Amino acid sequence: MKQIDTAVLGATGMVGQRFVKILANHPWFNIKALTASKRSSGKEYKKGVNWVLDTEIPKSIENIEIQKTHPKVDGDLAFSALPSNIADSVEENFAKKGFAVASNASSHRMESDVPLVIPEVNPSHLELIEKQKQNREWSGYVVTNPNCSTIILTLPLKPIQEKMGLSSVKVVTLQAVSGAGYSGVPSMAIIDNAIPYISSEEIKMEKESKKLLGKVDNGELNLPDIDVSAQCNRIPVTDGHMESVWIETEEETSPNEIKKALEGFMGEPQKKDLPSAPKKPIIVKESEDRPQPRLDKDLGDGMSVSVGRIRGSNKEFKLTILGHNTIRGAAGASILNAELMTQKGYLK
Ligand SMILES: NC(=O)c1ccc[n+]([C@@H]2O[C@H](COP(=O)([O-])OP(=O)(O)OC[C@H]3O[C@@H](n4cnc5c(N)ncnc54)[C@H](OP(=O)(O)O)[C@@H]3O)[C@@H](O)[C@H]2O)c1
Repeated sequence: MKQIDTAVLGATGMVGQRFVKILANHPWFNIKALTASKRSSGKEYKKGVNWVLDTEIPKSIENIEIQKTHPKVDGDLAFSALPSNIADSVEENFAKKGFAVASNASSHRMESDVPLVIPEVNPSHLELIEKQKQNREWSGYVVTNPNCSTIILTLPLKPIQEKMGLSSVKVVTLQAVSGAGYSGVPSMAIIDNAIPYISSEEIKMEKESKKLLGKVDNGELNLPDIDVSAQCNRIPVTDGHMESVWIETEEETSPNEIKKALEGFMGEPQKKDLPSAPKKPIIVKESEDRPQPRLDKDLGDGMSVSVGRIRGSNKEFKLTILGHNTIRGAAGASILNAELMTQKGYLK
């Protein structure tokens, strides 16, 4: 298969670095352009980036010159790790120029003709691409992945919704500092501390999870009747968002049945053996003090979500969920979306 030429927008940030690391050895996608702000454009990648990952900058990438974020750059596919206020018009300009844009930013997620996708949860929502192209008369299109804490929450909710129905979800998050971007939370604010506020995060979790668990029929999205309520906290952990979750199911069930539903869950990425698909999207941890960010965030190369402490009875249950926020919650999520788009023929 001929590789697809790819640009990474916002390649120097927390999510951009993850894109660079994963894409440097990707079998289908070939990095042709890296872009960022005026601060770093014109520099070699190794000089423009504040690299924070615990592996070296890939040799094939370190000397590439960072460009301004403009759709004249080379490529057919653009992975966007831009701040939302910038992403809004920039992603549209890339789509108008014919790029397939796989975006991490929140700007377009809730628009009715923009797919918001987790490949294991709602792969059929990609059909909104056709509607978007018709509505907007663009040669390209924008596909989004959810906010990091929403992805980590919604992946395990899907098999529960499928097997026993879901009427209510309450979630309290403990989110890593990398989720706020490179200059997001000052060290003086977060070391030896916890901050019970993350701007707009709660509303994103409440709205995006319902769009993801909804059904698209003839280009129209129908939302499920599930109450979702979130409280979000920032904690001094580098990577890995943990979430304490309370759910109410529609049917009576048991912790054992929930565990079986989670462990047996496979989505299209697993069935189609997509390159970034973890063998098991959900891993159930038996030990009563797991999952933990330091120990479990890298399961499935950071693409598996782990679930533990499943307890309760009748229709009310509690569980603890954990996932890697910049891999499964961001760059890995966009890349898996683009793999599914390729596999379904939306990208050639
Ligand atoms: N971090 C996460 O866990 C996570 C998870 C899910 C979604 N997201 C979303 O992903 C996006 C990126 O997040 P991040 O955490 O990687 O942020 P970040 O670390 O602040 O990186 C932002 C990137 O955008 C570039 N940029 C800033 N202003 C620009 C401009 N005016 N024009 C062009 N490029 C510009 C920056 O370039 P310079 O280095 O040159 O300034 C940098 O490459 C955001 O929309 C965020 O909400 C993040």
